[in-house]
Amino acid sequence: MAIEIIFTANKEPEMQNFDEIIEREGTHCYKYDLRKKIFGVDDVYPMWVADTDFRAPDFITDALRKRLDHGIFGYTFLDDEYFSSIINWIRIQHGFKIKKEWIKYSPGVVPSLFASVLAFTEPNDKVIVQTPVYFPFYTAVKETGRQLVRNPLVLRDGRYEMDLNNLKSKIDAQTKMIILCSPHNPTGNVWRKQELLDLCAVCLENDIMIISDEIHADIIYQGNKHIPSASLSDEISKNTLTLMAPSKTFNIAGLNSSYVFSSNPDILDKFSRYVEGLHIGANIFAIEATKAAYMHGKEWLSNLIGYYTDTIEMAREYIHSNLKNIDLIEPEGTFLLWVDFRKTNLSRDEMLKLLVDSAKLGLSDGFMFGKEGDGFQRMNIGCPRQKVLEALERIKSIKSFRA
Ligand SMILES: Cc1ncc(COP(=O)(O)O)c(C=O)c1O
Repeated sequence: MAIEIIFTANKEPEMQNFDEIIEREGTHCYKYDLRKKIFGVDDVYPMWVADTDFRAPDFITDALRKRLDHGIFGYTFLDDEYFSSIINWIRIQHGFKIKKEWIKYSPGVVPSLFASVLAFTEPNDKVIVQTPVYFPFYTAVKETGRQLVRNPLVLRDGRYEMDLNNLKSKIDAQTKMIILCSPHNPTGNVWRKQELLDLCAVCLENDIMIISDEIHADIIYQGNKHIPSASLSDEISKNTLTLMAPSKTFNIAGLNSSYVFSSNPDILDKFSRYVEGLHIGANIFAIEATKAAYMHGKEWLSNLIGYYTDTIEMAREYIHSNLKNIDLIEPEGTFLLWVDFRKTNLSRDEMLKLLVDSAKLGLSDGFMFGKEGDGFQRMNIGCPRQKVLEALERIKSIKSFRA
């Protein structure tokens, strides 16, 4: 059945004020209310977990309110509009035409990572991850009894690159899957077409399935373009399961709304045994939020990217003028800054003591993304710019970091 095109112009009447400071403490919020658990103290300035301090756009809260006002929250299902909103978003934002029958709901990208490893590999099979990388990539492999194969990214002239020669040398008959992070958390890479083509060619040659985590696909900075791995060729598409969500972009991670897609029905069937097979259905509010985000979010998103771009410019300039031995890896996408402290020659413990105990700053320690992240810190800039400035000033408050 043909899906009706329902994409409409942004309904947002005014530009959202991203400078607005909204209190999040006491709202069962990871970033603020779990500081003691993560940092040992509850008064660090929180710039860690990857959600944002921005209010979700009005067109999402209006849609949720409308649903709430109905007052009945019985069993529900994914309607055509849910699928067409996803199809249109991916076509308009990323230039890729997908079909309704390629899409499956999932409560989250991390659950999809685990489900994928379970569905497409056997115990002891080898799964490749390119490090440093978002830490659930490791747990999805290790906690399911598979073997982790690291293919460290190489930092060359300020930009991370994939090391395909190293990758090839590690592949053997037991290597069954790669989990690709595209765009890459924490390094901020937006992989270029040729990089993806080269990687996918190695995967196809060696019968390695691609799990492409594209949750950060919407936040892309000028001069870069997100290319869905599955859009590269029909052959690659048939070998790929793509994981996406509106959660990072629109700050709705707590609503548990994500989805996967593949043009290969066998892949979808196997994946479905885990999510549909366990009868994990979508929540009414997740469905409404996804539809609203994707039907009305285009202009809001471009304002958000503009805001992030200015924040990054401010941070770049601040680091350059005020700090020493600290370098910013230029982000091509994501709202995560990967900051290189290696020239400070401090050990991890010394670094954490200074940042957490002295500066009272809660960044994500690079080691958490794998040993290749040691000496780096990840700063979440998904917040009013004033907070990013405060975080930078806290770094500057450490005498040995001051220029
Ligand atoms: C690369 C990547 N994948 C997945 C997630 C989380 O996905 P979800 O909240 O849908 O499980 C994150 C969150 O930071 C992420 O950076």
